[in-house]
Amino acid sequence: MRETNSLPRHIAVIMDGNGRWAKKRGLPRTEGHKQGAEVFRRICRYASDLGIEYLSFYAFSTENWKRSAQEVDAIMDLLRHYLAEMEEREDENKEGGYRIRFLGAREGMPQDIVRLMDEVEERSADKTRMFVNLCVNYGGRDEIVRAARTLAERVQAGTLQPQDITERLLSDALYTAGQPDPDLVIRPSGEFRLSNFLIWQSAYAEFWYDDVLWPDFTPADLDRAIEAYQNRDRRFGNAK
Ligand code: FPP
Repeated sequence: MRETNSLPRHIAVIMDGNGRWAKKRGLPRTEGHKQGAEVFRRICRYASDLGIEYLSFYAFSTENWKRSAQEVDAIMDLLRHYLAEMEEREDENKEGGYRIRFLGAREGMPQDIVRLMDEVEERSADKTRMFVNLCVNYGGRDEIVRAARTLAERVQAGTLQPQDITERLLSDALYTAGQPDPDLVIRPSGEFRLSNFLIWQSAYAEFWYDDVLWPDFTPADLDRAIEAYQNRDRRFGNAK
């Protein structure tokens, strides 16, 4: 029998289906996001108990600004609340805890949230239990364009030769610099799209899709996704 893969080091999650979850219950979409934020907390705790090293979440894309002002404001408030909570819990969280990073453009974000993001990143920088990446105002193509600009600036300054640009160098110019690529990408709610999420980093990731809506997603669903991953044949372009 073929050997199973070990635990994924890095899991990336597209938190989809919040709106449909709320609609099914006759609630405003914002209630779906509220429940989604609770599930995010629960899954972080469970994944860190399992020993997952890196967990990334798609919380707000560069395209999500097109939603109604009310919905955008509600998501921003959930973020604010989470950030404030992280600040408050910092002291009781000295041992271990999450090292939090916010991936995405700071421009265009409310100033108070940017300040809180910077503080939470700085204060959690010495934590070792698990890396949590929250993608906020994030777009995969935008991230690659920014990395290309950074490298172009170095070429212009004469500190880099175009022929020395490698995959590694471009990876190191992304928000995820220094982190392993996702092994497993999870998308609930029955959609089969990557939606501009960690597109460079997920080149060899295994995908897991399911009909469960994110607000209904449980630790048992994470177990199912990991089990499916462990039974996949990962070849990275090699022959069988
Ligand atoms: C996609 O579902 C979800 C979002 C665009 C927002 C996700 C944000 C959160 C869960 C809260 C973020 C805050 C923290 C603290 C993590 P959808 O609205 O597109 O659902 P639908 O496809 O059913 O309409």
